[in-house]
Amino acid sequence: MRERLPLVLHVLGARPNFVKAAPVVRGLTELGVPQGIIHTGQHYDALMSDVFFADLGLPEPLANLAVGSGTHAKQTAALLVGLEQVVQEHDPGLVVVYGDVNSTLAAILVCAKLGVPTAHVEAGLRSFDRGMPEEVNRVVTDALADLLFATSPEALSHLAREGVDPAKVHLVGNPMIDSLTAALPLLDPEPVRLRLRMPERYAVGTLHRPANVDDPDAARELVEAVTEVSRRIPVVVPLHPRGRERLAAAGLVTGENLTVIDPLGYVEFLSLVRGASLVVTDSGGVQEETTMLGVPCLTLRANTERPITITHGTNRLVTPAQLPAAAEKALADGAVTPSGDLPPLWDGAAGPRVARVIAAWLRGDSLSPAAHTLSASYKKG
Ligand code: UD1
Ligand code: UDP
Repeated sequence: MRERLPLVLHVLGARPNFVKAAPVVRGLTELGVPQGIIHTGQHYDALMSDVFFADLGLPEPLANLAVGSGTHAKQTAALLVGLEQVVQEHDPGLVVVYGDVNSTLAAILVCAKLGVPTAHVEAGLRSFDRGMPEEVNRVVTDALADLLFATSPEALSHLAREGVDPAKVHLVGNPMIDSLTAALPLLDPEPVRLRLRMPERYAVGTLHRPANVDDPDAARELVEAVTEVSRRIPVVVPLHPRGRERLAAAGLVTGENLTVIDPLGYVEFLSLVRGASLVVTDSGGVQEETTMLGVPCLTLRANTERPITITHGTNRLVTPAQLPAAAEKALADGAVTPSGDLPPLWDGAAGPRVARVIAAWLRGDSLSPAAHTLSASYKKG
């Protein structure tokens, strides 16, 4: 008889979590590992949450903690209280957390205090900017996780420098790219472009980083720069709810060449990006997706925890002041990828690699030689 493995719980809360978790959930299903999702409710609008479960084929969560929005302290406190109870109720053998959002941080803290083992998918990314709430979440999460799944080779040296035992770290590739690879056959720009009345050449914008949208002066500078771009090419902005009013007050409103809309579902958004001549963003995930799709990307940030999208991809960091000229150049050049190759292990098979390591770990087997060999070869190279 096949042995019954302990339950794996995935703690998910925000839009990018859903995209990263779907391939891991699928991989574990294929290996027959019992699992369930706890939705913290950090994101709750249908267009920030439900649409991702539908588009990515994620199973219904076992529970939704409905923590909602608040200051960092209030939201994290609600997450800690809710997660402590639900983790105790389900008594999992492993809790898997994703990325760098507050739900990730709260889950790792709760499990560390309860003595429940944890795995972190997307370990070791660093912007080296502790002013970003996500960077604080990344550092704490990686310090406490028992299994660390790195998406990018440079993560291995970041973790080693912070004293993380290399035996816990597995370089597995990028599950966000697995989701994109799986969705590719569905990504048709035409229906969404026509629905939004965009011409054949258009740009897509997304903005939600606190450093860009929370401060009225920063928001005004940013909106002026995006408006300048819209004089060269029509821009459509599926806008995250964060800072929506502040950005509108700064002038980010639908006009002749600018179209501001609600967030789009995963498949519609990436369809729109696939057909775009340019993307302007401050998102983490969108930097990776544009690299994979070969669409030029200008990132309105001073730094990125995803430098591989610059060295191997279509991404450039720009200030608002640099944006209009950079957009002009990107539109003239098209997508230029320095190495011509996609980043290593962006092959659509990261989820199954994570699942194999987790299954072996749950069985108490010595860990997958494939994962170690992979890590070792990048450590040397
Ligand atoms: C969070 C993550 C960020 C990630 C982003 C992905 C943290 C600290 N930040 O930022 O790393 O890039 O998710 O999208 O975890 N809101 C709604 N409806 C929703 C969700 C949010 O209206 O369904 C509004 C609320 O006004 C809320 C604000 O957005 O106060 C911010 O939401 P929150 O989850 O706190 O942070 P994000 O900015 O979404
Ligand atoms: N995304 C989406 N609809 C949108 C904007 C983004 O489906 O209107 C997807 C995007 O393709 C990526 C994820 O949301 O998979 C990224 O989330 P976000 O930019 O909110 O967070 P970050 O990656 O910056 O943490």
